[in-house]
Amino acid sequence: MLAGKNILLIIGGGIAAYKTLELIRLLRKDGAKITPVMTSAAAEFVTPMSVSALAGEAVRQSLFDLDEEAEMGHIQLTRAADLVVIAPATADLIAKMANGLANDLASTLLLAGNKPVLLAPAMNVAMWNHPATRRNLAVVEKDGIVRIGPEAGEMACGEFGPGRMSEPGEILTAIRNALTAGKLTGKRVLVTSGPTHEPIDPVRYIANRSSGLQGSEIARAFAGMGAEVVFVTGPAVSPRPGGVQVVEVETAREMAGAVDGAGQFDAAIFAAAVADWRVAVVQNGKMKKEAGKPLPDLDLVENPDILRSVSQRKTGRPHLVIGFAAETDNVEENAVAKRIRKGCDWILANDVGGDRAVMGGEDNQILLVTEDGVEQWSWMSKRQVANMLADRVSEELL
Ligand code: C5P
Repeated sequence: MLAGKNILLIIGGGIAAYKTLELIRLLRKDGAKITPVMTSAAAEFVTPMSVSALAGEAVRQSLFDLDEEAEMGHIQLTRAADLVVIAPATADLIAKMANGLANDLASTLLLAGNKPVLLAPAMNVAMWNHPATRRNLAVVEKDGIVRIGPEAGEMACGEFGPGRMSEPGEILTAIRNALTAGKLTGKRVLVTSGPTHEPIDPVRYIANRSSGLQGSEIARAFAGMGAEVVFVTGPAVSPRPGGVQVVEVETAREMAGAVDGAGQFDAAIFAAAVADWRVAVVQNGKMKKEAGKPLPDLDLVENPDILRSVSQRKTGRPHLVIGFAAETDNVEENAVAKRIRKGCDWILANDVGGDRAVMGGEDNQILLVTEDGVEQWSWMSKRQVANMLADRVSEELL
């Protein structure tokens, strides 16, 4: 996927540098060419020998190396790159970037560079939270530098909190995304998200558990790749993503109407947890609980199946229609059958029955079902799922 791409990889001095070795392996496997640069502190954590061996390229360490300068000047290193990746990005490197310092090879390349930069910060939690780091980060982000992580968790130093470098697989996806920014320019993408609320009376409703986080992340990922995104959302608690057209709805029927009225799309992703049923007759006044009175008989009728109707459109069907399947049993079997029954192209299935909270949680594990078969993704953040999906869709729409 990264074949032909040149990555200038700057390795800062931190214990997380050991994870960068795995990142190098993943990048190579993905076809990227890597030019590794290490700060002198980085060489205290992992050896230049390991980095060179994995990268298949000599490590550059010194600003004043005549041999290296004769071969390829340090400015040239940045010109040949498609993307500069800093992993781990230490507080020191971020501070140098924020202030335009250039007193070693890594910082000089960053100042002399004219290519997009992706940061994967890693540092002690107090360093991360320090006002100086906050200020420096704000500056570099304003300069257009993209960041992945850090993640919160237990750190190598024994403390707990944000500061851990993102996992190599997540950084790989962020790299792919950074390189594909703008890849979906000119494409229209529809994303449905959140639950729907089906009123019973003015105070009660039927709904599914859904925070809307996965849908929001998907919309964000597509917008980040330059797509024009229409985001049709039910009453979800997750914040709405920026840079997309938001259409707020409450019920399944409103969602169906909003989807039908939103025009044509290259891809449509149905991440909403739509209520399958609504009550046939909504009461105008609150239904009263009264002693001795029989319990209300809720007469249910089926809601429109939005995914199915878009999948089976005779005209104006999106090139790619993607549904979700939240299952508690026989996930694969049900997802494979659902893809065919609905007529959509892909199903992203997840097991919502296990111990790990998917609905309302931060993470997800996806089984991607396509015409070609079934692919198991590892446990990852919903953001990572969204990035992977956007990546796959962009390849399909090329
Ligand atoms: O059939 P089921 O509800 O399990 O299918 C889930 C998929 O179908 C999701 O992609 C969901 O957004 C979509 N769906 C829909 N309209 C419905 C019910 C589900 O679009 N009424």
